[in-house]
Amino acid sequence: MTGPNPDDTLGHLHQASFYGPSIPSNSTPSSRSKDFSAYTILCIAFKMMTIILIIIGIAVVTLWLIFQPQSLKARAVAASLTTFDLSGPGDSILGYNLTVRLTFRNPNAKYNMYYERMQAQAIYNRQLLLATAHFPRMHQPRKSTMPVSMRFLGVENVTGDSAVKRNYGREKGEGFFYVSIRVYTTVRLKMVLIESVKFKPYVDCLLRLPVPTNATSLAAGFTATQCDVRNFS
Ligand SMILES: *[C@@H]1O[C@H](CO)[C@@H](O)[C@H](O)[C@H]1NC(C)=O
Ligand SMILES: *[C@@H]1O[C@H](CO)[C@@H](O)[C@H](O)[C@H]1NC(C)=O
Ligand SMILES: *[C@@H]1O[C@H](CO)[C@@H](O)[C@H](O)[C@H]1NC(C)=O
Repeated sequence: MTGPNPDDTLGHLHQASFYGPSIPSNSTPSSRSKDFSAYTILCIAFKMMTIILIIIGIAVVTLWLIFQPQSLKARAVAASLTTFDLSGPGDSILGYNLTVRLTFRNPNAKYNMYYERMQAQAIYNRQLLLATAHFPRMHQPRKSTMPVSMRFLGVENVTGDSAVKRNYGREKGEGFFYVSIRVYTTVRLKMVLIESVKFKPYVDCLLRLPVPTNATSLAAGFTATQCDVRNFS
């Protein structure tokens, strides 16, 4: 006896027909094929969706690489320091009047830049904040340069800040004061209707300003300088 046992085969059939009846026998084949085709369609739909998402992803990354935004560029083109005096008892009051003109360059051929927030600080001797200038929202077309002007005017009590007084004395003797301008911005790029995420670059400019009372330095004047733009990513 090497062939299959006919009784076993029968037994399997019996088993099948035993478990079968829960589904009405006449509708079983069509219902099964319906289930099967619905499942197949779902599978295909899912696969297609995955492929479409991957294609969209690749397209976005490719576009981003092709149209990768370039950082804004900034330059300090003019500055005039008409007052920078230590006065009062013990030379404790620093009075200042500083006008600065920067230019911002949007080097992108595709993107307009929207400055949603912008403020500028003048800082002396690394940590002494002189004043903060606020700007309205601005819009800069692609491939363009715009002036950004600001004035810092006021007095600062520097009692006890011997580092500032020392630095002031040294720079006055050398003929030039060094004041840093930092501009904080929040920008968005826009191409037609597509808007980028927010960037928060900041601009750092170190100004070399002639001492207002030194004729030699005034004659030499202010030298335009390139500013650093950081965090444009
Ligand atoms: C500040 O300096 C500007 C020139 O840059 C001058 O026109 C203005 O009158 C000065 N303001 C004060 C209060 O000294
Ligand atoms: C500057 O500040 C010191 C305390 O830090 C104070 O004693 C002095 O009166 C202030 N000077 C002015 C002109 O406000
Ligand atoms: C004026 O500035 C020059 C440098 O431009 C400097 O050599 C000179 O010492 C300064 N004069 C005074 C009186 O501080």
